[in-house]
Amino acid sequence: MVAYEHTPVSVEGKRAVVVGGTSGIGQAIALGFASEGADVVATSRTEDAVDETADAIEDLGANTARVTCDVTDRESLDEVRETAVDAFGGIDVVVASQGAISRASVLGIEDDEWDFVTDVALDGVRKVTQAMAPAMDEGGSIVNISSMAARLSMANLPAYSAAKGGVEAFTRASAKELAPEIRVNAIAPGFIITPQNADTYAEGTEKRAAIDERAPLGRVADREEVVGAAVYLGSDAASYVTGEVLTVDGGFGDSAF
Ligand SMILES: NC(=O)c1ccc[n+]([C@@H]2O[C@H](COP(=O)([O-])OP(=O)(O)OC[C@H]3O[C@@H](n4cnc5c(N)ncnc54)[C@H](O)[C@@H]3O)[C@@H](O)[C@H]2O)c1
Repeated sequence: MVAYEHTPVSVEGKRAVVVGGTSGIGQAIALGFASEGADVVATSRTEDAVDETADAIEDLGANTARVTCDVTDRESLDEVRETAVDAFGGIDVVVASQGAISRASVLGIEDDEWDFVTDVALDGVRKVTQAMAPAMDEGGSIVNISSMAARLSMANLPAYSAAKGGVEAFTRASAKELAPEIRVNAIAPGFIITPQNADTYAEGTEKRAAIDERAPLGRVADREEVVGAAVYLGSDAASYVTGEVLTVDGGFGDSAF
């Protein structure tokens, strides 16, 4: 007889914090975790958004707690950590999905626009890590949401691309330092329909046609198609995976767009 047992891909019973968890990809991950039996705090800047997602988490039968945060404000992230610890007794999984974008060019982008994007998208990831890691137990997992823009040649996205490249480098650096207690990985989504880009990628637009034609899988993705990657990286099934970037891009790979 062959003895065999493996750890299932599951976040059941995990205690999760999803920053930027009230819209788009982060909200899908928050609701996905909740539907799999995790406790979830989904946080962003406004009470209305937090309440709406918290209600949806509760409708799925999961525990939640309500707290707002701005990733540029360290104290608000401390409050998120304390809220999650008070409500759940600890934190196992942290997802950093907050987003900021600018479509200004390399030579045209102003300092304040550059700072806005990098403060939220890159420095926000650092602040989330610094605030949450001290409360995470052994076996914890941090998942930073990067982008295909970290490695593709994309025009008019210099601050965003630089920030996401930084997120992936910071992910590797954090993975090294926080091991072996906490694993740190990133997800690099491709073209995913969310409120941020629903107009740009709408059916019938030139952009949408170009993506559908160029994407090896022939289409853009729904935000729910990123959830499985987050569940995997958050679960104990990924116990030997750290410092990695898991790409969810329909096969674009390294081809420039
Ligand atoms: N949608 C895509 O095609 C795509 C592709 C690649 C990467 N991404 C990345 O995925 C992540 C989520 O993007 P999305 O498309 O779901 O966008 P979204 O705008 O729907 O969600 C972003 C979330 O971040 C929150 N947020 C913004 N600034 C914040 C701040 N200062 N503090 C706290 N929360 C803040 C927003 O309130 C919102 O909840 C981002 O990191 C984005 O760069 C998205």
